[in-house]
Amino acid sequence: MCERVTLLDKTFVKFIPSEEVDAAIERLADQINNDYRDDDPILLVTLNGAIVFAVDLLKKLTIRCKITCVKLSSYSGTQSTNNVKSLIGLNEDLRGKRVLVLEDIIDTGRTYGHITEMLKDSGLKDLRIATMTYKPDAYKSDLPIHYVGFAIPDKFVVGRGLDYDGYGRNLPDIYQLDTSI
Ligand code: IMP
Ligand code: MG
Repeated sequence: MCERVTLLDKTFVKFIPSEEVDAAIERLADQINNDYRDDDPILLVTLNGAIVFAVDLLKKLTIRCKITCVKLSSYSGTQSTNNVKSLIGLNEDLRGKRVLVLEDIIDTGRTYGHITEMLKDSGLKDLRIATMTYKPDAYKSDLPIHYVGFAIPDKFVVGRGLDYDGYGRNLPDIYQLDTSI
């Protein structure tokens, strides 16, 4: 696989190889299988970015569970915006349920805050979040993050579902924006 990729006007360098992402997902799946073994959780997938991570994770889950999706959007190009939009809402009854949100990345935490707010009157039993990647230096929320694949520097990344203006989601490895050129 290539060490560098170009998407639109930007170049990215390989950052986390596919096998390491697979190993991290396996580790997360083990934890989730253990923590939810006596429950029947709802996995809430945030479209579009989390679909690749969600599919990989779901294949490793042995627990009884259901999946539902929401579509939110806060990014424009390589910048997070203050405005999180709900493009597809939730139509699942969460009363009494444990809900596990699946995210591709947590950056400022705005999207996560928006999801928490959106679910606050849903009567759910317990809300947790599992994210493939997390940028601790960019995180501005106090909400706890429960399952993290990789804590990464505050630099823009693509691949494994993560995109630059819609491109790069299909890359099996994770790439980081090349700021050296
Ligand atoms: P937050 O609301 O600032 O935490 O940002 C979360 C959303 O921004 C993610 O679901 C991504 O869609 C997008 N995002 C944040 N950082 C990156 C990145 O490095 N690459 C691609 N998308 C990102
Ligand atoms: Mg996203």
